[in-house]
Amino acid sequence: MGTTPNFGDPTFIADPYPALNELRESTPVFWNEQSGQWMLTRFQDVYETLRDRRLGRAYTHRYDHSRFARVAPDPRWAAFHQHEQWSLLSLEPPDHTRIRRLVAKVFTPRAVAALRPTLVGFSASLLDECAERDTFDLLADYAQPFSVAVIASMLGVPREDTQSLLDWSHAIVKMYELTTTDDQRVAANEAAAEFIAYTRALIATKRSAPDGLLVSELALVEDGGERLTDDEITSTTMVLLEAGHEATVNTLGNGLRGLMKHREEWRRVTTGEVDARTAVEEMLRWDSPLQMFERWVLDDGVVIAGQEMEVGQEVAMLFGAAERDPRRFPDPDRFDIGRGDPAHIAFGGGIHFCVGAPLARQEIEVSLAGLASRFPDLRLAEEPSYHPTFVIRGLQSVRLST
Ligand code: HEM
Repeated sequence: MGTTPNFGDPTFIADPYPALNELRESTPVFWNEQSGQWMLTRFQDVYETLRDRRLGRAYTHRYDHSRFARVAPDPRWAAFHQHEQWSLLSLEPPDHTRIRRLVAKVFTPRAVAALRPTLVGFSASLLDECAERDTFDLLADYAQPFSVAVIASMLGVPREDTQSLLDWSHAIVKMYELTTTDDQRVAANEAAAEFIAYTRALIATKRSAPDGLLVSELALVEDGGERLTDDEITSTTMVLLEAGHEATVNTLGNGLRGLMKHREEWRRVTTGEVDARTAVEEMLRWDSPLQMFERWVLDDGVVIAGQEMEVGQEVAMLFGAAERDPRRFPDPDRFDIGRGDPAHIAFGGGIHFCVGAPLARQEIEVSLAGLASRFPDLRLAEEPSYHPTFVIRGLQSVRLST
C-alpha cells in the first residue's frame, strides 16, 4: 500500500494528485492512523457510500457520544457547534427531510433559471471593473463579490453586510480541516458567535418586514402547522451563506488556473467549440474545491471494498482520488474541458446531495462565459499558490492579465 500522505504538507497540497493516484491504485481503502478514519480512494466505493443509508453524517440522532467513543463537543467552541447544530449537513432524517424540503423549494432548477438575468447583471458589472485594469485578481475582484452577492440576494441579506459574512465564513470553515490550530478554533468560534447574533437580528427584521426572500420565508413558514425554530432558521441561513460561496469561488479559481495552463482547452472555450455549460463539469471534476467528506458507520454489517467496518467508526471519502479514478474516467489526469460528464461526485450524492448544485453550476457557467467572451487573451500574471488546507481546496489569488 502507498504511504498515507501528510495531508497538511504544503508540497502535497500544491499538487496532491500524484500521491492520491498512487494511493488509489495501491488500495481502495486504508486506515489513517493519524485521523483515526477509514479512507476510501475509488470512485465506485465513494459513489455507493454517499448513498448508503447505513452510514450518516451524524450519529447523535441514534447513539450517545460514549457509544461512539467520542466526547461531547468541546464547550470552548460552543458557538461553532451551535451554528452547525441545525445545519442540513449535521442532520439526518427526519429533521433533515423536514428542513431540506423547505430549502429545496428555493433551489429548484426552474427557480434558479429565473435568477439568470440577476447573475448576468452582477457578473457584467464586476467584469466591467476588471476590464479597466491591466491585471485583476479573479478571486478577490470577481468571484468572491459575485458569489456572495448572488447568495445574499437570494437570502435577502443587505449587500453592505456581505464583507462581514465573507470574513466570518472564512474563519469558520477552518474547523473542517484535518489540521486546525487552537488559534484558528478560537477565531472560528468568535466568528460563529458574531454570525449567530447577526442572523438572529436579521430574522427579527424579516419577521417585522417580510420581503419574500429566503430568510423571510423560512421565518414565516408554516409547514403542516409546524414552524421552524429560530435555531433551525439560523443554522440554515448560515450553512447556505457558507456553502453558497466558498466552493463556487474555489471552482472558478481552480478551473481558471487549469484553463490558463492548458491554452488549447481555453481556446476551445473562447471559440465556442466547447460551451461554458459543458466546461463547468470538467472544472468541478479535475480539481475539486472540496476534497473530502466523512460519514459515521451507524449499522452492523457494513463492508466497503472488502473491509468490514464497525458501528462508531468514521469513513472519509477522498474525492480528489475518486475523481481521477481510471476505472470511471478515461484518461483521468487529462484536463479535457469538453468531457462534459456531469456524473462526477463533486456535489456529493444521496440525501445530502448539494442542494445548491443548480445555482453553483449556473454561477460558474455565467462567469466563464463572461470571462471568455471579454478576455480571450487572458493569461496568468503570476503563478498562483494554494491555501495550505486540504479539505477546502482553493487558491490564495489568481492574478490574471487581460
Ligand atoms: C461548486 C460549488 C459547490 C460544490 C462543489 C458543492 C459541494 C457540495 C457537496 C459535496 C455536498 C455534500 C456533502 C456531503 O455529502 O457530505 C454539498 C452539500 C450542500 N451544499 Fe453544496 N456545493 C457547492 C455550492 C453550493 C451552493 C452555491 C450552495 C447554496 C446556495 C450549497 C449548499 C449546500 C447545502 C445546503 C448542502 C447540504 C445539503 C444537505 O445536507 O442536504 N452548495 N455541497
